[in-house]
This record gives sequence, structure tokens and C-alpha cells, in this order.
Amino acid sequence: MMKRREAMRFLAAAPLPFVPDDWPITQRAPTSYAFGPDFNFGFSTSAYQIEGAVHEDGRTDGIWDIFCHTGHHIRNGDNADITCDHYHRMPEDVALLAAAGVRNYRYSVSWPRLYPEMNGPANSKGFAFYDRLLDELHDKGVSPWLCLYHWDLPQYLQARGGWTNRDTAYRLAEFSDKVSRYFGSRIGHWMVLNEAAVHAYLGHGLGFHAPGMTGKDNWVSALHHLNLGQGLSVQALRANVPQARIGTVASVEPVRPSTKSADDAQAAAVLDAMWNGAVLDPLFLGEYPALVRDDFAPYCRSGDLAVCRQKIDLLGINYYSRLHIRYDPKYALDVFFGSNNDPVKYKALNVPMEPDGLYEAVMHVHDRYGRPEIFISENGFATVKDGKPGSGLEDDGRLEYLAANLAFLQKSREAGANVSGYFVWSLLDNFEWDAGMKYRFGLVDVDFATLKRTPKQSYYWYSALVRSQAKMQVVKV
Ligand code: FCB
Repeated sequence: MMKRREAMRFLAAAPLPFVPDDWPITQRAPTSYAFGPDFNFGFSTSAYQIEGAVHEDGRTDGIWDIFCHTGHHIRNGDNADITCDHYHRMPEDVALLAAAGVRNYRYSVSWPRLYPEMNGPANSKGFAFYDRLLDELHDKGVSPWLCLYHWDLPQYLQARGGWTNRDTAYRLAEFSDKVSRYFGSRIGHWMVLNEAAVHAYLGHGLGFHAPGMTGKDNWVSALHHLNLGQGLSVQALRANVPQARIGTVASVEPVRPSTKSADDAQAAAVLDAMWNGAVLDPLFLGEYPALVRDDFAPYCRSGDLAVCRQKIDLLGINYYSRLHIRYDPKYALDVFFGSNNDPVKYKALNVPMEPDGLYEAVMHVHDRYGRPEIFISENGFATVKDGKPGSGLEDDGRLEYLAANLAFLQKSREAGANVSGYFVWSLLDNFEWDAGMKYRFGLVDVDFATLKRTPKQSYYWYSALVRSQAKMQVVKV
């Protein structure tokens, strides 16, 4: 294990810069982290979850629009037609993230907003919106980290089979090519996919997410085509934005059987191979895990794995908790999310607090895939409001969750992992997919009736943390 040869110390305590006097900077702001001034702290969002304006300026339906408006898939019948209305309030949102002292922003573009028709022209109004976003970010000194595909496939591609159709891999590559030619050097960090594993399993295996497909064949073929499209996209990005840093974002969550039964152990092994292995092995090693290799054989053509395997500059890891899995023959490949039988401290949206799992995930990637540069592209905690005024603003549970995860992230750096950033999910309360508006991940509260934004305690805490790290000095020891 590499021993860190750098230590950090605080510079003389100065007032935090740019913080208005009336900000309730918490006393609990951590002072013991040593991420230092070069570490990339950020906020993460995605287009469909915050933009709204789904039928404005030429945007056409994506798979989530259809999923929301047919079949009662979303809790409470919620939809993302308006959600945070970020499309109209974008400058206010950028101001909020910049005011926190955060200098990095991961977001995604909406494919059906940029290319509303099959084989049709670019939608200049869609591109203009993201140009305005880049103007605001650059103006405020915030670096854009663009994720090209965060689950909102145009419905015209779904009508042709979506990700179960091999052609969609080539359509993604074409999209990546055009978008990167357009924005070029205005964007320094490019990520191709968000969580291929989740999109494939929840959207195509279990049917809980759009497009609502089910079964093993759809799950496996979607995942292979996502991997293929990702490889082709990395190639396009390398050609178009050679100075940029290029990567992708994966959900990396250690898997555990829910009980000691042999069936659960087998289900957990299969899910680990499908969720973690079948995303990262093709990318880094050019192969599928042995346990599930035969499942991919019908879709994986000769030469595909060489395309899936790409040298990337950095990997985004999304981590929330471990996955606790049980055998259930009702579901694709007989696996289903069970529960964690150990007592856990916090639970919202079925996500236990397991910060040591972040350490495990990071070290796994570090050890297995040749010490790649890693950043945490999502980590966050859901709360539920109780309807009283001011509810949700004192979010101690979130604060404790973030603090604990960051402590284990620091531990992974001390153990030699090359971790260069941490992006919290999310800037704003937003549309949480099938869970609708109930579960809120924002560090900024959104009142969905008035669209008013109000920073929560965790926003001030995160801001204090980011500022404290910016003032650290590296001391060679
Ligand atoms: C991740 C998604 C993100 C958000 C968080 C809570 O799986 O990438 O869009 O919904 O979960």
C-alpha cells in the first residue's frame, strides 16, 4: 500500500471568505478533514430531475415522460413536468452553488431537448439553454462536468427498442460526437454514462424505472449496449476534445446477501457480477465476469469488448450504501433487493447508513482496476418533510451521513487510493425517479408549490467544509 507523503495543516484561522454575516455557519463544520485545496468538491444534478419545461422550446418526449404519464409508476402520481423549473431558474441555481464556495458542477444534458426528432437537426433553442448555463458557470468560476446520458433516452429511440436494440449504442456515440463538437473546450470534464447498472436493472430488468421493461434478456442486452455505446462515445470524445478529461460514472456498491442462506449468497454473487463487475470489467479489463459471461454471449459480438475497453482519465463512483440482496424467483436472474438485517442508524428510501461501504467500494476499484483516478460523483441522503413550516431545513441526519462518508473517503486516500473529488447529490430537492417528490436529496430545499429555494443546514455545513479545505496548505513531511 502506498504511504501518503503529504500532510495538511490549516492556515491561520481567518474569517470564511464570501460568507454573508447572517449565514448560520454551523459550529459542527468539520475541521479534521485533510482533502486540501486541490481536491474537487462539487454538486451533482441531472437534467430530467431538475429542468422541467418538458414541452418547451422544441423538446420532445423522453422515456421518463412516457413512464410518468402512463401506468401509475411514480409514487403519488408525481411527474417531472415542472419539478424544480431549473430551465427557467438556472441563474439562481448556479448562484446558489457558487455562493457555497463550490467550484465544480456535474450536470447532464437532455437528449430529447437537443435532438427532438429521429435523424432530425439539432434544436438550437436546446443548445442555447446549455450555452447560457455554461456562461453562468464560467462567469462564477465554476467548472462544468458534463454527463452526456443520465437516463433520459428520446422516446423515438425507445420506439425502436431503446437500449435492447444494438443500434442505440451507435446513436449514443453519434450524440456524444455532436455534443462534444458543439461545446468543445468550453467543458473540461466529460462523463459518458450515469450508472449503466441501475439503468439496465431497474429500467430493463425489474421495470421499476423507465422504460419499464422486464426480464433477464432485456436487462442483459441493455447493459451490453450501454457498455458498447460508452466505449464508442469515449472514442468520439477523445477525437473531439483531446484536452479534456474523459470518464464515466458507475454505481459501485458492495453487495451482501440479506441472510446466510445459500440461495441469498448465490443471488448476491450474481448481482455483484451484474451490477459492479459487468460495468467495470468490460471498461477496464475488456471482459465480462465469468459468472455471467454466458448471459452476455448472445449480444456480445466479436470485437465488442475491445470497444468497451477504453482508457479513461477518471472514474466517477456513485455510492449510497451497500446492496443487500435476497433470492426471489419472481425477478430477473432471481435476485431482488432485500434488507440489511443488522441494525442501522438511518434509513430513508431504504438506504442504510454504511459509510465504511464507501471505503470498500473505492478500495475495490483501486485494487482491481489498476489504481485509476476516482472521484465520488454522487453521495447523498434522503429526507422526508412532515408538512410543517421550515420542515426539512434542520437536516442533521444528512449532515451526519455526509460527514461519515467523507471520513471514510479520507481513509481511502490515506490508504493510497487516487481520489480527486467528491460531489454531493444533490444541489436541489428534485424528482427522485419512481419515488417522485417525496424523498428529498437536496442541500437546498425546494418548495414545489412556489418553487422557492431555501438552503438547509447541510448546505451551510458543506460550504464551510469546502471553504476550510480551500484554505489548507500542503506541507511536505
Ligand atoms: C442515483 C441516481 C441519481 C439520484 C440518486 C439518488 O442512483 O444517479 O439520479 O436519483 O440515485
